Amino acid sequence: MTVIDGGTGEPPAGRGSGQPGAPAGIASRGAPAERGRLDLADVLGQPAARRAAEICAAGGHHLSLLGPPGAGKTMLAERLPTILPRLDRAAALEVTAIHSVAGTLPAGGPLIAEPPFCAPHHTATKAAIVGGGSGILRPGAASLAHFGCLFLDEAPEFGRDVLDALRQPLESGEVVLARSGLTARFPARFTLVLAANPCPCARGPSSRSACTCTPAARRRYLARLSGPLLDRVDVKVEFLPVSRAELLSDRRFTEPSAVVAQRVAAARERAAARVCSARPVRRPRPGCRGRAHRRRGPRRLAQDRDRHPPGPGRWRRS
Ligand SMILES: Nc1ncnc2c1ncn2[C@@H]1O[C@H](COP(=O)(O)OP(=O)(O)OP(=O)(O)O)[C@@H](O)[C@H]1O
Ligand SMILES: [Mg+2]
Ligand SMILES: [Zn+2]
Repeated sequence: MTVIDGGTGEPPAGRGSGQPGAPAGIASRGAPAERGRLDLADVLGQPAARRAAEICAAGGHHLSLLGPPGAGKTMLAERLPTILPRLDRAAALEVTAIHSVAGTLPAGGPLIAEPPFCAPHHTATKAAIVGGGSGILRPGAASLAHFGCLFLDEAPEFGRDVLDALRQPLESGEVVLARSGLTARFPARFTLVLAANPCPCARGPSSRSACTCTPAARRRYLARLSGPLLDRVDVKVEFLPVSRAELLSDRRFTEPSAVVAQRVAAARERAAARVCSARPVRRPRPGCRGRAHRRRGPRRLAQDRDRHPPGPGRWRRS
């Protein structure tokens, strides 16, 4: 994290003392004691969703969860950090530094070694999500979830500008805030989890008054999540309502977080080894048209040009 030429150097209120300085509307669960109670095995009757969580944890993919109320979307999202590997020393120091600047260091935990989980409320402002503030620039939820999980529950209820502000950190892994005479750069490399009900009334199939939302109302509701944001979400899971019998019978098959976390860690090691052993790809120099092009005589080049009319910047005049 770099803060360039900024701030008064004063520590934010509540620094290192629980979360009094946390941006409004943000629940950040980094304390191991609280996290220790959660386990992926609690999520019953949703094998596809559990598998999706494992894939996202292994590959660092963003995840969206769509389903009726009470299907277990929030439950699953809260358990995603329990299958992520512990932070190594460098990552732990980076995460701790961000939480220290934001004033959200958990009491009695000087070093955050577990992947953080940050779940801002849908009324959160853009500054609370990506960071900002007047005077002292503070990191937002996206940075508090660095190396962990940013969970947007009831995602369509968030402001459109708030959701779209996440596109930059999703792309670059950092938030750059610029004010007059001040630029701050906060790391924000998180796994995004979006959860949504299929319609605005949020009446599930088991509720007394059934949903009466029209298909157009449902479409409008989900369209609040913009295409460019959803393009960045690789894994999309649809939850189905689960019967009581399914919940009870699935108890025998659910794996605890510890078992899944081992597979996730092994998958990450394999991926790291693959990346290290891959031969670097030689990219042609800009403007170089390659050997095949050089072998072509002027007649072949003219034929090529007729077959493939030049697009902007595709051919250079020769
Ligand atoms: N798949 C499940 N396995 C076990 N318990 C479940 C499951 N789904 C829901 N529950 C129970 O129902 C409660 C509510 O679940 P949860 O909040 O995760 O649902 P949700 O899909 O997020 O609903 P909403 O859309 O209303 O937020 C949980 O705390 C849990 O006790
Ligand atoms: Mg929920
Ligand atoms: Zn409805």
